[in-house]
This record gives sequence, C-alpha cells and structure tokens, in this order.
Amino acid sequence: MNKTLRTPVIAGNWKMNKTASEAEILIKELIPLAENAACETVICVPFTDISTAVTLTKGTKIKVGAQNVHFKASGAFTGEISAKMLTEAGVTYVVIGHSERRQYFNETDLTVNRRTKAALEAGLTVILCVGEMLSEREDGITETVVELQTVAALTGITAEQMKNVIIAYEPVWAIGTGKVATDEQAEEVCAFIRKVLETKYGKETADKTVIQYGGSMNPKNAAGLLAKENIDGGLIGGASLKADDFKALLEAAS
Ligand code: 13P
Repeated sequence: MNKTLRTPVIAGNWKMNKTASEAEILIKELIPLAENAACETVICVPFTDISTAVTLTKGTKIKVGAQNVHFKASGAFTGEISAKMLTEAGVTYVVIGHSERRQYFNETDLTVNRRTKAALEAGLTVILCVGEMLSEREDGITETVVELQTVAALTGITAEQMKNVIIAYEPVWAIGTGKVATDEQAEEVCAFIRKVLETKYGKETADKTVIQYGGSMNPKNAAGLLAKENIDGGLIGGASLKADDFKALLEAAS
C-alpha cells in the first residue's frame, strides 16, 4: 500500500493561543507523549513562543513550526518575519496559506507561492494549506479550487523541493466549526490532490508527499480519517491545545 511510503505527521496549529509561560506548561506535557509516537510531531506556535518551544524541545521528538513567513529576506516590512529569522531561531516547519491568512490578511495564491519558495530556499519544511469554502463546495467547484490553489502555490517548486512540502487539506467550512468532513469527503479531496501532484511531478513524488487533513479533527474522529489511504496526518487547531486530546491524536496516527 502506498500509505506505507509516508510517515504520518501530526501538527498542532496553535493559532493565536498560548503565551510563552502557558506554552511552557503545555510543551512539558507533550514531550513524553511524542516520545512513543510512531508519527512526526510538530507544534506550530506563535512567534513569541518560538524561543521557549525550541529550548524545551531540544533533544525531544517534537519539532517546532511557525505559522507564517515573509518572502523577502529583510527590509521595510513592518510586522513580518523572514525565513532566516525562523531558521536561526531553531524553527524547522512553517504553515503557509492557512485559510485564516487568506480570509483575514489578504493572503493570495501569489503570496503563498512566494512565501513557499522563500521558506524552502531557507531549508524549512512547508505545511501548505489548501481548501474550499462552503459556497464553493455547494457550487460543486471544490476540485477546481483546490487544484488551482495547489498548482499556484507550487509554481517553480521542483520535485526535489517537494521532499520538504506537506499539503494540508483544510476545508474552510470545517475549521473551528465542529463540522468535520466525513472520512470519505476528506479522502476524496486528498486523493485528488495526490493526482494533481502526480500530474505535475510524477507518481513517485506524489506517492511520497504527506497530505494531511485539517478541520475539527479530534480524538473521536481522528482514527477514521487517518485510516484513509491518502490521509497522512492532521493539522489540528483546537484539539492541539489540550495535552489529552493531542495524545489521542498521536495515538490514532501511530
Ligand atoms: P480546528 O482543528 O480548530 O478546526 O482548526 C483546524 C485548523 O485550522 C488547523 O490549521
């Protein structure tokens, strides 16, 4: 089964939650949980938690990610963070193109592509988010939207660079709403994304790329989703903020 070619990745996206002192408490709870997990464990924390997270997770199985990165190396971009700032701080993963960035901060397919290029050039692993809105699903254009987002974000990215790209399929209507996609809905789109990758990069690259599901994933629904052939882990918001819930997700992925 092609699924065996990929190690599942469970990534917490903390969004704008947890101060550094709160992060310390949660990370100390997560470290032993990740130790026995047969999946990769990543926590994508707010910028102000990076230093704490990197220090605490040194020598453990938890990797630290950021939630955004700018595409320029430096300059007059008030409020932005460069890829080199992240790598020098010890960050190894970065979430790019999250729907909340697209919805609230004018992120476009073009800027997602630029950020992806800059992150990969700096040696970061990119968790690239794609996903349709409810109206788009209702209009029957889910595949069109997801294909466009995927292809646009990966413009100029080589098959070699794809070794450091994870795709997170996050239907916007399922994020933070408690309305999880059914196992079949999630599998259908993740399989489609793999087809898009196969067309662009060939079967070997497509088979090796980790494709996560994200959107109200929790201890109750994780096992069903993660058992699907094309779902190789999760990008998890709410349930990544509680150690017990995160533990259940790590177990489901292992
Ligand atoms: P929830 O798990 O809270 O629905 O968030 C999903 C998400 O947006 C992860 O990036």
